[in-house]
Amino acid sequence: MKYINLGDLEVSRIGLGAMGMSHGLTGAGTDDAESIRTVHRALELGVTLIDTAEIYGPYINEELLGQALKGRRDQVVLATKFGMIAHSGAGPWNLDSSPANIRTAVEGSLKRLGTDHIDLYYQHRVDPDTPIEETVGAVAELVAEGKVRHIGLSEAGPDTIRRAHAVHPITAVQSEYSLWTRGLEERVLPVLRELGIGLVPFSPLGHGFLTGTVRDEADFEEGDFRRGNPRFTGENFQRNLRLADEVQAIAAEAGATPAQVALAWLLAQGDDIAPIPGTKRVSRVAENTAADRLRLTPEVLARLSSLPPAVGDTHTEAGMRMLER
Ligand SMILES: NC(=O)c1ccc[n+]([C@@H]2O[C@H](COP(=O)([O-])OP(=O)(O)OC[C@H]3O[C@@H](n4cnc5c(N)ncnc54)[C@H](OP(=O)(O)O)[C@@H]3O)[C@@H](O)[C@H]2O)c1
Repeated sequence: MKYINLGDLEVSRIGLGAMGMSHGLTGAGTDDAESIRTVHRALELGVTLIDTAEIYGPYINEELLGQALKGRRDQVVLATKFGMIAHSGAGPWNLDSSPANIRTAVEGSLKRLGTDHIDLYYQHRVDPDTPIEETVGAVAELVAEGKVRHIGLSEAGPDTIRRAHAVHPITAVQSEYSLWTRGLEERVLPVLRELGIGLVPFSPLGHGFLTGTVRDEADFEEGDFRRGNPRFTGENFQRNLRLADEVQAIAAEAGATPAQVALAWLLAQGDDIAPIPGTKRVSRVAENTAADRLRLTPEVLARLSSLPPAVGDTHTEAGMRMLER
């Protein structure tokens, strides 16, 4: 495994997203023992960056990681997120990045994760009701107290990133980025590079779609957010399958799996990029981390870069309104 810097934070170039172990995807929460083995295998393979959020579950994904990381906390760059649970008001799925809410959130996350510090603490979505300066100021206080080591944002827009970075250095921005979601290349990525902020692409496998294993929307269980996602429904789903097929064909030629090709393409976009593919299976964490060793030729990278765009938004209408604020 190679290591890179997000700002001044060293992380494995491929991380592990823990969300689907407990939340949001088919099979979540069905085999915690395998999920814990997956975390342990990731650490053995050199993964350091592990990603969760208080909203995943809510709470149970952080609890699961707390269990998995007992006695191994020092091996991990532990990242979690606040701001999608309004603790003193409307509860889960309501944005609140006010300083008081952050104070409540951090104590809960520390407790569930079984640690005295969070290595990378992200605002999950920009809160239109709290100026970003107040939010970052509150997290900066947690840095001063040693409860948080680095500050991150998720799906923030360029102006917000600049304003946040002026208050306290932002180490990383976590946003959706993959072969079929490339919106941030135009406006966000240049700002990150100008300011020396790292990028953590979430859903780097397109929520599994780019791996070629998602072939039928009827396979999504109740609670799987892909059921209401425009890219995964109806005609869009069928049309997008052609994209997955193309990735599969390129992977076969490259002697790799589609997941590895999708990850290797992301890694080729720069040494300031550390994707966090999600899996709850030991076998897949080995497959995904092996993408670190895959070298794609310039011709293959160019073919991947010119794949036709996906059809459909990446989120529901309400979800889209929360992006790049
Ligand atoms: N900041 C945000 O707003 C935000 C939003 C979404 C996600 N995230 C973070 O990003 C992480 C990853 O995103 P994600 O889980 O949405 O999407 P993803 O990493 O693109 O895809 C995960 C899906 O792909 C499957 N998969 C993984 N490796 C595979 C392989 N080699 N072959 C076939 N299938 C494979 C997984 O199934 P199995 O588990 O069954 O292997 C899972 O269903 C999350 O865990 C979370 O930490 C952040």
